[in-house]
Amino acid sequence: MTNTVQYNFKIDQKSRNNLNKHNSFVIWFTGLSGSGKSTICNSLEQLLNTNKVNTFTLDGDSVRNGLNKDLGFSDQDRSENIRRVAEVSKILINAGNVVLASFISPFQKDRDIVKDVVGENNYIEVFVNTSLETCIKRDPKGLYKKTKSGLIKSMTGIDSKYEIPTSHDIEISESNTLDYTVKLLYRLINDKLRIVNE
Ligand code: ADX
Repeated sequence: MTNTVQYNFKIDQKSRNNLNKHNSFVIWFTGLSGSGKSTICNSLEQLLNTNKVNTFTLDGDSVRNGLNKDLGFSDQDRSENIRRVAEVSKILINAGNVVLASFISPFQKDRDIVKDVVGENNYIEVFVNTSLETCIKRDPKGLYKKTKSGLIKSMTGIDSKYEIPTSHDIEISESNTLDYTVKLLYRLINDKLRIVNE
């Protein structure tokens, strides 16, 4: 850290939330590649948008094409990926958005860092618990096939580890339909969206 002093700007998260008529926070989706994180995010975001909630989705494939294009899939790069996304989420939350973040985020310590950076009150963790077997069967991007033929190294669940979440707020079972899952999540966050004046 250099010699920086934070200026005390008068318009803060609370003022923006009041203007938007809803609270802002991050819904953090963690799970294997192919588990359904992006599909769930996409549907949930549409439902929120219909209900006049300001949202923004951050996901691994898009962020890794821009801001994080210098990062690969070593343990260290994955941690740096998540650290930067945590900081971006913090800014977007401060700007008044409900952020939907879809990242494998395989390490517990990194998920803990996100919670710490954005603040516990601004964080909901969703564990998309789809088995590796199902993800391999789905293989929407052909990555598991490529891993099998040796074209990809450090694939999560195969030769790079995924630590099962220990402090998630909700777990999504692979047997749920998309419609059921989205309604379940919407119900969970609905209370959190509502501004309660003290
Ligand atoms: S994370 O581990 O750092 O959280 P992130 O969610 O950003 O990963 O990116 C995962 C996406 O990158 C996957 O959905 C997949 O499309 C792509 N990908 C490419 N190589 C790998 C790999 N070795 N392991 C996992 N995902 C990979």
